[in-house]
Amino acid sequence: MTAMTESPTTPRAYSPGLEGVPAAETALGRVDGEAGRLLYRGYRIGDLVARGTYPAVANLLWTGDWDPAHRLSTAPVPDAVMVALRALPATAKPMDALRTAVSVWGATQQLDWPPTAEQARALTAFSPSALAAFARLRQGLEPVDPDPSLDLAAGFLWQLKGSAPDAATARALDAYFIVGAEHGLNASTFTARVITSTRSDLASAVVGAIGALKGPLHGGAPSEVVEQLHQMGSVEHAEAWIRAALDRGERLMGFGHRVYRAYDPRAAALRTVAESMELKPDWLELAIGVEDVALRVLAERHPERALKTNVEYYAASVLQGVGLSPDLFPATFALARHAGWTAHAIEQAGANRLIRPSAIYIGADERDLPG
Ligand code: COA
Repeated sequence: MTAMTESPTTPRAYSPGLEGVPAAETALGRVDGEAGRLLYRGYRIGDLVARGTYPAVANLLWTGDWDPAHRLSTAPVPDAVMVALRALPATAKPMDALRTAVSVWGATQQLDWPPTAEQARALTAFSPSALAAFARLRQGLEPVDPDPSLDLAAGFLWQLKGSAPDAATARALDAYFIVGAEHGLNASTFTARVITSTRSDLASAVVGAIGALKGPLHGGAPSEVVEQLHQMGSVEHAEAWIRAALDRGERLMGFGHRVYRAYDPRAAALRTVAESMELKPDWLELAIGVEDVALRVLAERHPERALKTNVEYYAASVLQGVGLSPDLFPATFALARHAGWTAHAIEQAGANRLIRPSAIYIGADERDLPG
């Protein structure tokens, strides 16, 4: 059968998964896997973590302006959203609850096209409150109102736990939010851009992005890092555990990356933050000790391939360290990525062209219906 493109334009080589196909121009995130660099609008991720906050970084992504004093607190949850969250079963996945909340929130807003920084700010401020509310409701606890004196990460922890986090804990989660904010044209960000390109609204773009992030091939599994560390139990037991796992053909969670060949700069930034926390919890010492052993054993097993620590490893440590239950990890990642999704939606709308690729038709030739 002859392959036919359905597009009237010149056919191009087919690349499954669009691998290597440029599908957008962006001035937001630059991922340099060979050198282990991640830049937001040209600024190094390590510098942004060291000297910035998530609100300042989100504002940088939305507007291009660097204002380290920029603030953003969590926002109240509209009644309609709270009704929807109360109606969900306690067994609902937090990602499903967050996706539902953003959808209902969108229905309560007048979100005109094109998306704006103001809309992005409002949505990014709303979502942590909604996720915290669901996390409490499913435990039979009442939601906690936002505290406008707290920045976003601290405010999320306040609404989750009903007590204000100490400065080091808030700082650690804020750093996690910064490193999770943006990572180029990944599947969920692409989804947000496709939806925006139809002139649909910002809430719809983020609902779609959450749906894409929910898939295990994208959202990752930092909770599996926690599980592996629990199984090892101590640094002394790590080497034997790691060797046995690799002998069984298993992979060490939190190591290796499709793009980064050097140490993942996000892992490096998070490790620095985690190490500087005043009260270094036991699990963090375990994580740091195990990392050295794991890197040594992986280098021995795969001398041909650079298998370094990836972001999930220290993300797991930070999220566990700030007291989040592992089933909240993926939805917390989604909160962090709100800045990137919404910034890409604004950028897409700024030079919009409907995203409409073509398909190579491989079905039957024209034919008559039987009978
Ligand atoms: N532990 C042990 N071995 C690993 C490994 C890991 N974490 N990551 C890769 N390898 C090995 C593979 O077994 C393979 O060896 P082989 O050729 O002898 O079979 C080799 O390294 C290349 O692996 P490959 O799957 O081609 O690399 P990739 O670039 O496609 O994979 C990941 C990238 C992230 C999927 C992979 O490193 C992985 O599964 N890591 C663990 C899960 C994880 O941490 N995910 C979060 C990513 S942010």
